[in-house]
Amino acid sequence: MKKHILLILTGGIAAYKCLEFIRRARDQDYHITCVTTAAAEKFITPLSLTAISGEPVYNDLFDRQAEADIGHIALARRADLIVVAPATADFLAKMAHGFADSLASAILLATEKPVLIAPAMNPSMWHHPATQDNLALLEKRGIYRIGPGMGAMAEAETGMGRMAEPLEILEAVNDLLTAQRAKDVLSFTHSLSEPLSSLDPPARAPIDAQQDVGEKTSLQGYRALVTSGPTREPIDPVRYLSNHSSGKQGHAIAAALAQRGAETLLVTGPVSLPDPPDVTVQKVETAEEMLAACQDALPRDIVVCAAAVADWRVAATHMQKLKKQESGTPPSLVLSENPDILKTISQMTEDRPSLVVGFAAETENVLQHAIAKRLRKGCDWLVANDVSPATGTFGGDRNEIHLLDGATIHSWPRMQKTDIADRLAEEIAQYFRAVSCLE
Ligand code: CTP
Repeated sequence: MKKHILLILTGGIAAYKCLEFIRRARDQDYHITCVTTAAAEKFITPLSLTAISGEPVYNDLFDRQAEADIGHIALARRADLIVVAPATADFLAKMAHGFADSLASAILLATEKPVLIAPAMNPSMWHHPATQDNLALLEKRGIYRIGPGMGAMAEAETGMGRMAEPLEILEAVNDLLTAQRAKDVLSFTHSLSEPLSSLDPPARAPIDAQQDVGEKTSLQGYRALVTSGPTREPIDPVRYLSNHSSGKQGHAIAAALAQRGAETLLVTGPVSLPDPPDVTVQKVETAEEMLAACQDALPRDIVVCAAAVADWRVAATHMQKLKKQESGTPPSLVLSENPDILKTISQMTEDRPSLVVGFAAETENVLQHAIAKRLRKGCDWLVANDVSPATGTFGGDRNEIHLLDGATIHSWPRMQKTDIADRLAEEIAQYFRAVSCLE
């Protein structure tokens, strides 16, 4: 059955790109209904939207005919997904604060369906704390976001605020609808007590069969970078903040890529593992050191970020060991956020690696968080896994992962981390082989 997308257009110059989005979405058999704000119609006419979508365009909350025909609540309900593109700073503020003063806002207040926003605005508006606070509120409520990216703006400025391209938005739509389907299947299979691996079988080449006969696709001539292990963020010369990552998965991936002939650099935090064979290893302690080592190693064809990078570091590291106070008052630590290595590499505008793979360590709603994380970070593939203590993933030898490649979610059965590494390296090698066939 055709999936139904409700596209809400708000008032930005990027609205013209939505014609391309509608055309491409219809090519993929989506049914598109457009809703415009008054400001959107300063940039794009309902006539062109109707011509491209083949559907009436709705814009008025108080239009008696439209309310009699369909009504804003029904519009909100019949969609499988709502896309807001372009989403202006003003409209994001309205969404964040629950306004219902236009048809578009009222629909968003009435819907329970997934909502994807594609922000577009001037870089100063994007960086303004008001916009960032509104986005944080929306993300907390489970709204999905794609972009914006860096680039030339209409006002002859360059910076962050350019709306994602139509095909990127469509890819995010595909991702979200696949996840929605996976979630439905998941609750269904849970009620049957079946494992998650009963989700759709991977629509890919039968890799296991190839491995049975000892064939591995070559990555000769490609250069790979893998991050692995935890980072350690010093508090003082003898204490640090860190996490339980063992580095087993990242090290195994580096080994599997090198085995296929890729020139591989492993940038790793402190672990107690031997260096993988045929891999150049660079040892670091902190997230900032890890980022610097990765940046020095670029450009690369393949980047796999498997490290469990500490999200925060101590803002002011103490030069001497912290002493206990006579009063018994414990010291308070002020933290600052660490750089996001995966996001930095994924969003590079020059010499970006052809394939950037991230990991998502989650403890609940694994797929939903992973979908949002892939969009937020901008990586190409994302390997999602459940790291709640009961799974024994952190430090253990086995894991169960879902590979999100932008079109499909591939759920692999529980297996050894070394087998996951081998299968992932094989997927990467096959991807490059497919790309080289197209060139
Ligand atoms: N990552 C990174 N640099 C950071 C944090 C994370 O490169 N400062 C990478 C990890 O290597 C992984 C991905 O981002 O590939 C996701 O890491 P994860 O810990 O799951 O997510 P966070 O970004 O930390 O987000 P959250 O803690 O909110 O889940």
